[in-house]
Amino acid sequence: MNLDIRGCWSHSRVVFLRGCEMPKIKINMDEIEIFQCGGRDLSDIMQLQEDAFSHIKSERLLRRNDRDMLKRCLFPPHTTLGVRHNGKLIAFGILYCGGKSDENLGYDAQVPESELLITGNIKLVIVKSEYWGNGLQRFIIKHLETAAKSSGIKHLCATVSPENIHSVNNFKMLRYQFLVRKTKYDGHARDIFYKSC
Ligand SMILES: CC(C)(COP(=O)(O)OP(=O)(O)OC[C@H]1O[C@@H](n2cnc3c(N)ncnc32)[C@H](O)[C@@H]1OP(=O)(O)O)[C@@H](O)C(=O)NCCC(=O)NCCS
Repeated sequence: MNLDIRGCWSHSRVVFLRGCEMPKIKINMDEIEIFQCGGRDLSDIMQLQEDAFSHIKSERLLRRNDRDMLKRCLFPPHTTLGVRHNGKLIAFGILYCGGKSDENLGYDAQVPESELLITGNIKLVIVKSEYWGNGLQRFIIKHLETAAKSSGIKHLCATVSPENIHSVNNFKMLRYQFLVRKTKYDGHARDIFYKSC
């Protein structure tokens, strides 16, 4: 059964995706809290990553991060921001500072060697599937940009699967510039986006 009853249910703010019976929760931005994640958030972050894999169309869209990597992202020089609604983690995003490692997308963006250490990656943003459609990816990226600026980062890069249309749209809306398409993680296509910070 196809349901699209947005509007009719605006008071309960639980609506349904067109053609899909997954409940979709509409939130007011003043109901949420953004915070810096730490070690105690690791298992919730892992669960959100698994939620994403169980709802996306293809595993080509997303690179799975292992526990060690997600744990590293919780501590400097990296920053992981979380969003809570009713006390529960519903989204997170990672600013990753890859230094001189091959995780630094500055190499793909041809950032000068002398500026690689002031280059950060918007590595991953995940929104819990029921909360898709509240603009939370853009909200988190804007906060990661603020965090990046305050730690002296001048270049921001991101990789997005060209099939991940919602993410591509969001980076474009935030004025990230498409630079080049490359074959990256496990042989999958990734578009490299760049923004001066
Ligand atoms: C990409 C992602 C973070 C975007 O979530 P978001 O911030 O809630 O997206 P938006 O608010 O911009 O959504 C805009 C529209 O696209 C829809 N949408 C968003 N993500 C969607 C998805 N993965 N599948 C289907 N529809 C989706 C929303 O429901 C909304 O529709 P509406 O305008 O009809 O209400 C989210 O889809 C997600 O967590 N995906 C899995 C992880 C991922 O791919 N992360 C990005 C890696 S670079």
